[in-house]
Amino acid sequence: MTTQHQHWGSRLTFILAATGSAVGLGNIWKFPYMVGESGGAAFVLVYLLCIAAIGMPVLIAEWLLGRRGQKNAIDTMRDLAKENGRSSAWTLLGVSSVLVGAVILSFYSVIGGWSLYYTVQAGAGQFAEQDAAGISDLFEQMLASPATLLLAHTVFMAATVAIVARGLKGGIEASVRLLMPTLAGLILVLLAYAVSTGHFGEAFSYMFSFDLREISGGTVLAAMGQAFFTLSVGAGVMIAYGSYLGHETNLLSTARTVILFDTGFALAAGLIIFPIVFANGLETSEGPGLIFVTLPLAFAEMIGGTVIGLLFFLLLSFAALTSSISLLEPVVEFLSERSSLGRAVSTAVAGAVIWALGIAALLSFNVWSAPLPVIGMNVFDSLDVITSQYMLPLNGLFAALFVGWALKWQGVQDELGLSGGGAALWSILARLVAPVGVAVVFVAGFF
Ligand code: PHE
Ligand code: NA
Repeated sequence: MTTQHQHWGSRLTFILAATGSAVGLGNIWKFPYMVGESGGAAFVLVYLLCIAAIGMPVLIAEWLLGRRGQKNAIDTMRDLAKENGRSSAWTLLGVSSVLVGAVILSFYSVIGGWSLYYTVQAGAGQFAEQDAAGISDLFEQMLASPATLLLAHTVFMAATVAIVARGLKGGIEASVRLLMPTLAGLILVLLAYAVSTGHFGEAFSYMFSFDLREISGGTVLAAMGQAFFTLSVGAGVMIAYGSYLGHETNLLSTARTVILFDTGFALAAGLIIFPIVFANGLETSEGPGLIFVTLPLAFAEMIGGTVIGLLFFLLLSFAALTSSISLLEPVVEFLSERSSLGRAVSTAVAGAVIWALGIAALLSFNVWSAPLPVIGMNVFDSLDVITSQYMLPLNGLFAALFVGWALKWQGVQDELGLSGGGAALWSILARLVAPVGVAVVFVAGFF
């Protein structure tokens, strides 16, 4: 007889933790700059379609797998494959998911470090009275210094490890309970400021005036990757978080809540950042530096800008932290269940390996910026593109296929509490729409 796997304190803490995982740098940092690089509304449209048709069924499938397994993602896949008379090769889906989560964390922590660095700069009043050139110098100087980036990455990783080492209740739950409500409050304050810039309408039409002719294969591929990244699916994270769920939680309504929050945060971030870009005559296609060169300008000019700037970057760091802890959890759950190391040591070991990989990523901004052979991108971009655009969708595709086709269908229906039309709709999404959608986007991406 095995002891019962631990569970979330309540449905609310699960929602906070899952939303905390979903809402992060992907929403506030990556989404706006990807919209800007891909020319606006066409990207937003494809992104929203991918979330609804692909991301949602995959998210539900991953929670379902985790809850069924009540253990780490790798053993979950192995055991579920066995119980359902399927090939043990499905274990590889667990392995690949957990590895991809760890790789994402390595470069995610570098950007988490930027957020921390900017929190300190904001607090020290560094944005005040700067013009656009001064603000971009600040960003360039940070990137040019390996020591600065290393320190920031190390502090961010250490914070992540410190929380995860404390366990589900004392670490993850306690931190999201504190951080998530604060995050929601701040985004509303900033949204109010964005409306006051006088360029809100321009930003709105930039994000929502769709022109279907602007959609290219590359845009579609990037938008799908972002849909997976933003929902934290394909990285073992939602399987791990699902493994701490009991049967009282309704997966469908919880998915709807988490997705609404995540999408709301991404759209709000765009609606905060683009008015400032337009108000200051800046470029939307700035790339990864977008929020680090646009927002400080607004903070330099607005009344109380130092305080609001400090709060913004603090909260960006917190949003990153509630995601980074989720990225570490799958490896830690695996190590602590499979070895005799215990939770704290497992966390430290996994954290150290991921931290080391992060160093290669941060050197991409200075001494090691040359593109890698074959891939043609530096280490940072390679890790980002390979995981987000290819590995997350691939893992998600197989998770949907496994739940849709390999598990006994009656069991899946029971897990979801569905019958009749609802069950039919879900089966179409998980069995056909999501897998075919991923395949179509992959093919389109080559053109
Ligand atoms: N969803 C997080 C974000 O948008 C990133 C993430 C990806 C977290 C994959 C966990 C797993 O910032
Ligand atoms: Na997100």
